[in-house]
Amino acid sequence: MVTANRSRVVVVGTGSVGAAVASAIVQQGLCNELVLVNHHPEKAEGLAMDLADGSEFLGRFVTIRAGGWEDCRRADVVVVTAGPKPKPGETRMQELGAAIDIVDPILRHIRDSGFNGILIMVSNPVDVLSWFAWRRTGLPRAQVFGSGAALDTSRMKTIIGETTRLDPRLVSGYVIGEHGDSQFVPWSTVSFIGKSFAQYLEDNRSRYPGVTLAGIEEETRRRGLDIKGLRGGTSYGIAATVAGLVRMILWNERGVVSVSTLIDGEYEYGERDVFLSLPVALDGDGVGDFVDLHLSGDELARFHRSAAVVRDHCRLVAD
Ligand code: 2OP
Repeated sequence: MVTANRSRVVVVGTGSVGAAVASAIVQQGLCNELVLVNHHPEKAEGLAMDLADGSEFLGRFVTIRAGGWEDCRRADVVVVTAGPKPKPGETRMQELGAAIDIVDPILRHIRDSGFNGILIMVSNPVDVLSWFAWRRTGLPRAQVFGSGAALDTSRMKTIIGETTRLDPRLVSGYVIGEHGDSQFVPWSTVSFIGKSFAQYLEDNRSRYPGVTLAGIEEETRRRGLDIKGLRGGTSYGIAATVAGLVRMILWNERGVVSVSTLIDGEYEYGERDVFLSLPVALDGDGVGDFVDLHLSGDELARFHRSAAVVRDHCRLVAD
């Protein structure tokens, strides 16, 4: 008896981010069934119809429909994108209060549906909300994480690609820490075409006048804010990132990504129960082992500072 590969993804929230995530998943044919959930059912219904209308021209047939919490029960992956509309000039952490009011009932519904798949939090502030989701749903560590710095890592590589006019995928390295102001690039661990990127920049100083590691790191950190200033918010970079994470899970790839996950003493950080981004293996079973970066003393201190920022905000919303 052939067991067809029946994969169901539920996307909760059909605003600009949720719609872009749903579209990326459909365009890439990542699953058999895509279910859209919104507290305004007509919004989910309209998006389902709109996405389904392109079926003739998609690479793979995907059943696309609006649904409800009961559809989470048999879902392989649930992606939560619902959240407050970002206010101009507001940081992600400043959205926390409004975000919890939206996300808490959603997490209770997902938990009560009997969901036992993999939960990807996208809503901001994603590190605190991923920790909150882990606590609220009771899912094991492997089955709940946040998109976190996977997007920032892609941004860092994109900026290096734009700077060097070479393929961003030639960069090997990660942004780690909070998906927010305290994120950073442990440059001692970033390589590019067979040498550290720091060395590459040093060896090609004349070709890249004025380009510095700190400058690339700051541009990466500001990227979301800069885009928000230009078009009111971000959606397609995060959508491509989340679709990539969904693909790694559903297609059981053993990739390594910097996503917001439960840290438990890693990198000598003494506090327990904090979520922030570090490179981990990701496959069909969810979040796996950490990939150990050899951080310098300064990088270790920066990681601890970032963890403390997230920990302090987790305490604000602890039950
Ligand atoms: C971003 O950085 C909004 O956190 C989202 O694009």
